[in-house]
Amino acid sequence: MKQTKVLQLAMVLGMGLFVVACGGEGGGEGPIVPPPQAPAEWADKHMPAGWWTDAAKLEAGRKLYVGETNPDVNCGSCHGKDGKPTKAGARDFRVGERMKLYSDSVWAWRIADGVPNTKMKGWKSKLSDEDVWKLVLFEASFGMPGKRWDTEKKSWIDAASVSAAPEPAGK
Ligand code: HEC
Repeated sequence: MKQTKVLQLAMVLGMGLFVVACGGEGGGEGPIVPPPQAPAEWADKHMPAGWWTDAAKLEAGRKLYVGETNPDVNCGSCHGKDGKPTKAGARDFRVGERMKLYSDSVWAWRIADGVPNTKMKGWKSKLSDEDVWKLVLFEASFGMPGKRWDTEKKSWIDAASVSAAPEPAGK
């Protein structure tokens, strides 16, 4: 019995190490490298003012993401409702190390136009620009809760108020 316990503990620890190791390499999605630049059409578009700390927009993003708003748009079917990908190769938004290399513009562009030659198609025919930003907001809450993209510093910084960010169910 005791030996079984030790064995179980060893297995749990081993799996933990495995997860940590893979996380370091980007959740088994290959090396963490910066994404390409957003094309001109998206390069100067950013999250609308005030949205980073807007719990209602975040909740709207969640509903879109899980297919509640429109069953034809169900990001969670590949990326996982809780951010843990359910389809091989789908980007893991929980890997902050990778996601922080993307500006908000790059995220939005990828959602709108997709990634060529992958299962990630472009969604712009089904989403307004505002919908795209709501999704960026929700995605960011996985890997970078409480952060926002700073257009001047060109990096992710703490959002002025973190109260809204990690709690989609908020109000
Ligand atoms: C059919 C499965 C599938 C669905 C549905 C899907 N994705 Fe993806 N997504 C992928 C895959 C696979 C990748 C990885 C593409 C690659 O190899 O760069 C990806 C990548 C991404 C990326 C990162 C792109 C990059 O350059 O790394 C973002 C952002 C993204 N998806 C957002 C979304 C959003 C938002 C939705 C819902 C509107 C969505 N995805 C729906 C499969 C899917």
